[in-house]
Amino acid sequence: MEGAYMKGLFLYPKHLVASQQFDRVVLDALFDRVGAMEKRKPNDFQRQLQGRVVATLFYEPSTRTRLSFEAAALRLGAGVISTENAREFSSAAKGETIEDTIRVVAGYADLVIIRHYEVGAAERAAKLDVVPIINAGDGTGQHPTQALLDLYTIKKRFGYIDGLTVAMIGDLANGRTVHSLCYLLTKYKIRKIFFVAPEVVAIRQDIKDFLTRHSVDFQEESDLSKILSETDVFYQTRIQKERFGDRLDLIKQACGKYTIDLPMTRRMKSEAIIMHPLPRNDEIHPSVDSDHRVAYFEQAHNGLFVREAVLLDMLG
Ligand code: CP
Repeated sequence: MEGAYMKGLFLYPKHLVASQQFDRVVLDALFDRVGAMEKRKPNDFQRQLQGRVVATLFYEPSTRTRLSFEAAALRLGAGVISTENAREFSSAAKGETIEDTIRVVAGYADLVIIRHYEVGAAERAAKLDVVPIINAGDGTGQHPTQALLDLYTIKKRFGYIDGLTVAMIGDLANGRTVHSLCYLLTKYKIRKIFFVAPEVVAIRQDIKDFLTRHSVDFQEESDLSKILSETDVFYQTRIQKERFGDRLDLIKQACGKYTIDLPMTRRMKSEAIIMHPLPRNDEIHPSVDSDHRVAYFEQAHNGLFVREAVLLDMLG
């Protein structure tokens, strides 16, 4: 499956902008390659991308996505150019459009990884088709490489994905990782998805319609305690206060409603896993961190291997 992305399996063959671009064959091939990346020793730097330049343009804050992409590029021998606060420190601050920025950076880099506060920003960049684009998060839209590492983590922990029951908890309206993961889960025979969210950040209708079209059973549930014993994967998320503008009343309604704590873990299956794309606020109590079912730090580490595999496939 070498170069699978380039063979038209994506809607945007040269770019990675949305989870819907993947099919199961590509996912399985990608995960095999991620496994090979993971087996390498920490100091095993390679040269497959030597002479290539990767640009990271981040208009929103990031720790995991930007640093793991940059580490992945460096570990494969590529050079990295970067602007970590592009909203303020790139010429976006002088009114430059995404289109103009991408046309210019395409002259400096072989691939651009972009995080932007507007939904559809990565797609706009990809449509120019001047350099391969990876969507590293577009507002409340999607974050497809996060969904890849989420799914890889699930597969690694369980050995399979079919038949699992997944609970998505927290800010399901604004959480782009939730949206991208929902799209990817439709590629598998998921037993059920529970959506557990405060009413003001409930799962979007278009995601529910997509799941229905793909025959995925789902249920909105307001009482997290009711589903603790039947869920395999708990996917907890942060309330994205930055998406609410000055609506402090809505933030108040959304925050603090669903916190996973130690008493809750006692009612979970012993083989369940607890995930979170991170960063977290108060939605998982730190006392839970040492539980064997916790997967969130491993999940973040898997991002390095997933992003290595993606870069290798798109640039190698
Ligand atoms: N999960 C995630 O996207 O984290 P960062 O915002 O730190 O990149």
